[in-house]
Amino acid sequence: MSNSVTSATYIRNLSYSLRRRLSDFLDPQDRWKDVAGSIRKPSGELRYSQQHVRRFEGLAAQGKSPTAELLNDWGTANSTVGELVDILRSHLLLAAACVLLPDSVKAVTSVETSPERTHGSSSTRPLEETEAPSSSSSSDPLPPLPLQDDEAGHAGFSSFFYNELKSITGNFDDRPASAGGSRLGEGGFGTVYRGFLNDKAVAVKKLNAMEDMSPDELRAQFNQEIQTLKALKHQNLIDMVGFSCDGEHPCLVYSFMANGSLLDRLACMDDSRPLCWRRRCLIAEGTARGLEHLHLNHHVHRDVKSANILLDEHFTAKISDFGLTRASAKHTSTTVMTERIVGTRAYMAPEALRGDITPKSDVFSFGVVLLEILSGLPPADENREPQFLMEARYDIEDEDEDLTLEAFVDKKMTDWEQSQVDSVYSLACNCLHDRKNRRPVIQQVLSELKGVVKSFSLDLQT
Ligand SMILES: Nc1ncnc2c1ncn2[C@@H]1O[C@H](COP(=O)(O)OP(=O)(O)OP(=O)(O)O)[C@@H](O)[C@H]1O
Ligand SMILES: [Mg+2]
Repeated sequence: MSNSVTSATYIRNLSYSLRRRLSDFLDPQDRWKDVAGSIRKPSGELRYSQQHVRRFEGLAAQGKSPTAELLNDWGTANSTVGELVDILRSHLLLAAACVLLPDSVKAVTSVETSPERTHGSSSTRPLEETEAPSSSSSSDPLPPLPLQDDEAGHAGFSSFFYNELKSITGNFDDRPASAGGSRLGEGGFGTVYRGFLNDKAVAVKKLNAMEDMSPDELRAQFNQEIQTLKALKHQNLIDMVGFSCDGEHPCLVYSFMANGSLLDRLACMDDSRPLCWRRRCLIAEGTARGLEHLHLNHHVHRDVKSANILLDEHFTAKISDFGLTRASAKHTSTTVMTERIVGTRAYMAPEALRGDITPKSDVFSFGVVLLEILSGLPPADENREPQFLMEARYDIEDEDEDLTLEAFVDKKMTDWEQSQVDSVYSLACNCLHDRKNRRPVIQQVLSELKGVVKSFSLDLQT
């Protein structure tokens, strides 16, 4: 584990799990290229040419982690963790540096963090102007985060004071929003509340510290989340409004999604009207577009599920939590069966359960979402046989079983056409192939769904 790692540790001796965590930070947005471009031979020459970089890109295109390949290669040259951490720090890749040597980041942040700034008159401030003031809260506040402010500021994120977020959510009112409180839901990383900023509704996610992470690491990874959200903007990914980092809990502020999660809408929670088939297909297509954007940017979501597909006022699908899933090793660990892992088991590809996480594991999880969309059933139900929805396909295919595709289709919708249902079902089965190499890539999935959506407009023309 990381506490046995020192500056002198050889990179080739780093554990698989540490390498994987580094990949999580360095694969997205091709940050590994910054690292590769800074590695020098003992002679002072750059170790990697453009041609080498292209070779790593080729491996990435095959679904491999370019960071892992880079580390494997550089590891053969007796390179050390100290050298890598120096390079990571020079590119302000503090979260990745923190994975290896947490103290190295502390040293940087104490230089970067200015001690006191006054509270401006406006309630939100561009990042450049702010540093968190000390919290007025009585409990032990987290010290300010190391803000990588220049870039994030340009993205238009706002930095809030914790107390402002507290006040716009009615002191984080834990009563459900539907019953006059503020609480929208709860997940593995914390609780989500609704609030209003100048009449604009927002969702505030109050993060809870996790037991497998030091406060320094949490801070650095929170920073990473903000950078990730900034770099991966897309109409089918959730928009971040800002964050706060001065209070008891780090908070992330997102646009409020008026129609909640796909999970809740399929279950008609709070008496919402059932989604019609056409809308379901548009949601599936939008989600595939968002996933394609993530995958094209070498970013594996790892937690694709209907609770992480949010719907705005027009029912446009917005994928959420694509940065946070990296916040804790435990959350993707295969060995620690926390309640949460059991919960997400309903979406996990067989190889993902063994720790092999690639874009194809997202495709598998998306296959489960397609079955939910078709059937309106929850992904797991312990009082049902089969318990996991992903297994329903075996019953549908088995002629000795009673379950047919027609019986599987959600009775709460009427506007479906057999050919469209057949296409989406066969796509779901392909996504759910046990062997990851037999699954389609997300571009193929998207193209199938575009075909289904197009068939609606053709219907309208005839
Ligand atoms: N931006 C948002 N707008 C409206 N509702 C939201 C928003 N973000 C989250 N929610 C609601 O809060 C619930 C909890 O979200 P959260 O992301 O914390 O948990 P989760 O998605 O169930 O699990 P996970 O921790 O794995 O993401 C969501 O299911 C959704 O109903
Ligand atoms: Mg979520």
